[in-house]
Amino acid sequence: MKAALCVRRIPDLPEGDDKMEIKPIETGFTHDLKPHAGQTTAEEAGNHAGQRTAEKTGTHAGQTMADEAPFTAAVITLSDKGSRGDRKDESGPAAVVMLEEAGYEVLEAFILPDEPELLKKELIRLADEAKVDLVLTSGGTGFSMRDQTPEATMAVADRNAPGIAEYIRMRSSQITDRAMLSRGVSVIRGGTLIVNLPGSPKAVRESLGFILGALDHGLRILRGSASECARK
Ligand code: MTE
Repeated sequence: MKAALCVRRIPDLPEGDDKMEIKPIETGFTHDLKPHAGQTTAEEAGNHAGQRTAEKTGTHAGQTMADEAPFTAAVITLSDKGSRGDRKDESGPAAVVMLEEAGYEVLEAFILPDEPELLKKELIRLADEAKVDLVLTSGGTGFSMRDQTPEATMAVADRNAPGIAEYIRMRSSQITDRAMLSRGVSVIRGGTLIVNLPGSPKAVRESLGFILGALDHGLRILRGSASECARK
């Protein structure tokens, strides 16, 4: 199991509910994590909670328990308004719900303003110290001068993994031709995959729904717990 993070939990949730607190850095603004109507479920994305057994994932006998631990994830929402508390973040929580439904352990979710230096710092921390398997960002991928998410992400990358961003745009373009306006990238830093999603909750649900089904195979390879591709 990789290094555990301090999970921020909402104190007034009913006992047994382990949803975490989502709050923007420095503002203390808390967001609810309730699923939203019309949300794409992990099932629709072809992925099931608790899926990561050796049998279901096609991993090999003799694999260690650590290899089979749930993938860990973090979600960062890039939004100037959200970070000031002027707009409720629905995109980050939408990503968290979908990841959890797909069996991921979401260790952190928070909002940052569209400041590339802040984003770089958090991406480096999440990859190098927290060693999460997956970081999703939402927002800041468009053409506004403040949209710097892809540049900050590329600046911390060790390796490019362009197929994920390409696939998101390709599938999204079947829904809206504005998909071409997202400059989102997907890269690897160390053992962490970082994927930029567009900013709207709708775009997050669509984009994540397209990639969730195949992501876990890539993450297992990145972890070193799978080396061969199933014939699919
Ligand atoms: N992708 C999907 N799947 N669905 C969408 O609605 N919106 C597009 C695009 N990608 C969209 C999408 C729009 S309108 C923009 S401007 C870009 O993402 C950039 O969004 P961002 O600046 O919020 O990151």
